[in-house]
Amino acid sequence: MSDRPFEKPESNPDWAEVFAHAAWGIRIGSTDGRTVEAVNPAFARMHGYSVDEMRQMPVEALYPPELHASIAQYWQRARSEGHYDFESWHLRKDGSRFPVFVQFTTIKDPTGQVVRQAVNVLDISDRHDAEIARAASEERYRVIADAASDAIITIDADSQILVVNRAVERVFGYRPEELVGQPLTMLMPEYLRHVHRAALGRYLETGVRHLNWAAIELPGLHRHGHEVPVEVSFGESRGSGGHTFTAILRDISDRKAAEAALRRSEQQLLQAQKMEAVGRLAGGIAHDFNNLLTVLSGAVHYLLARHPEGTPDHADIAAIKDAGERAASLTDQLLAFSRRQVLQPAEISVNDAVRRTATLLRRLIGEHIEVILGLDDGLGAVKADPTQLEQVLLNLAINARDAMPGGGTLRFETSNVAVNGDYASTHLGLEPGPYVMLAVTDTGHGMDPVTKAQIFEPFFTTNEEGKGTGLGLATVYGIVKQSGGSIYVYSEPGH
Ligand SMILES: Nc1ncnc2c1ncn2[C@@H]1O[C@H](COP(=O)(O)OP(=O)(O)OP(=O)(O)O)[C@@H](O)[C@H]1O
Ligand SMILES: [Mg+2]
Repeated sequence: MSDRPFEKPESNPDWAEVFAHAAWGIRIGSTDGRTVEAVNPAFARMHGYSVDEMRQMPVEALYPPELHASIAQYWQRARSEGHYDFESWHLRKDGSRFPVFVQFTTIKDPTGQVVRQAVNVLDISDRHDAEIARAASEERYRVIADAASDAIITIDADSQILVVNRAVERVFGYRPEELVGQPLTMLMPEYLRHVHRAALGRYLETGVRHLNWAAIELPGLHRHGHEVPVEVSFGESRGSGGHTFTAILRDISDRKAAEAALRRSEQQLLQAQKMEAVGRLAGGIAHDFNNLLTVLSGAVHYLLARHPEGTPDHADIAAIKDAGERAASLTDQLLAFSRRQVLQPAEISVNDAVRRTATLLRRLIGEHIEVILGLDDGLGAVKADPTQLEQVLLNLAINARDAMPGGGTLRFETSNVAVNGDYASTHLGLEPGPYVMLAVTDTGHGMDPVTKAQIFEPFFTTNEEGKGTGLGLATVYGIVKQSGGSIYVYSEPGH
């Protein structure tokens, strides 16, 4: 250790070394701070001068003109406070400017009088360039993120949302500023929140990915409370900003809806093809069978004439006649199903047909069932066979009665409907245009999807043996189709 008193740099060879080799630019200025007295080589180098050239230079030559006033102020502060630090711009000899970090210090004599200005200058171009580059890169990121139609969300390791892009609003209904700082779980349905927390915790602990980070389908939660199907891909960063995760979330509602529609129309097509095949088969048999029955009933007719009541064989022959008649009604129904009936269409009022049937029904189906009519007075006319229409109404009503053994309500409603292209495209066999709608609703036990898929098939019945033939709805189906209409069922168990 030296116990020498402090010596001025010029007179101390050690200090002279420090002055000459310092990486910082060092400048000594006059008492009034206006004139350069000495600079070290680093200072001269960063300004593009030689050390000698800078001696006695006016300090103002180092600063762009618009900064002169503030530099004078900074110097005032340094005089009163002893030192002052600031960032600014310096001029090189060639007139170009560069960013600097500056420390103003004063050198005082033993009486406290300021005798010199001492200035340290650091060229911060590199830092400045890096900041500009970072700002540019952030701007580029922002442009990309905001141009994306997918939501992009960055979270920290605690699942707090750090950054989102604009598309979050389109996908989740929240404005970006409403999400930053919130937990990511607010964009998930309740039941997924703990799954997410557990999965993230496990990943942070083990580093093992249990999900496919490239694309996974998940339900998101929209601001309005409904779920949004999203396809998510993840990225992660362990940069200087900490451990973060970025998710890109694509709204796949449209795709999902299209897939479901496709599945539905495939099912409709299959169903229609099945009904078509069964119809052809049933129709073929019924047609030939009917011819045989005609021969049979003719022969029975003559036999009965020869064996009147009271003669030995009469009862047997009458039994044959009965069975033949039942067989004929069965083939009629099959013919109806296969749309091979002889129809006598006329312009008729569906409302009138409903009223006539209702009168009949009130007597037929018992008092435990209330029949309610909701008929549109302005209903358009339809072209159909009135007897067949009443057959349809009766069959539907009898089914409803069977479905409501404990009583209930049977409702007939009519209205005019316009089928648009969208609706027609999702209902096979329906053409856009004006229609009359007849809805028959009961409050019975309803049916499960498996039953619902088969009710129009001939001989499909859930009734016990001998109680139903399963031809009721097959007949209805055939009549409606043959008359240019369509029929749909809405039912679930209990409704
Ligand atoms: N309103 C309804 N509520 C619940 N299930 C019904 C209803 N209508 C029809 N079904 C179901 O559809 C099946 C088929 O009906 P369909 O009218 O073709 O035959 P059925 O009534 O069983 O016999 P049939 O009408 O030949 O006497 C029924 O057995 C029943 O399971
Ligand atoms: Mg029936």
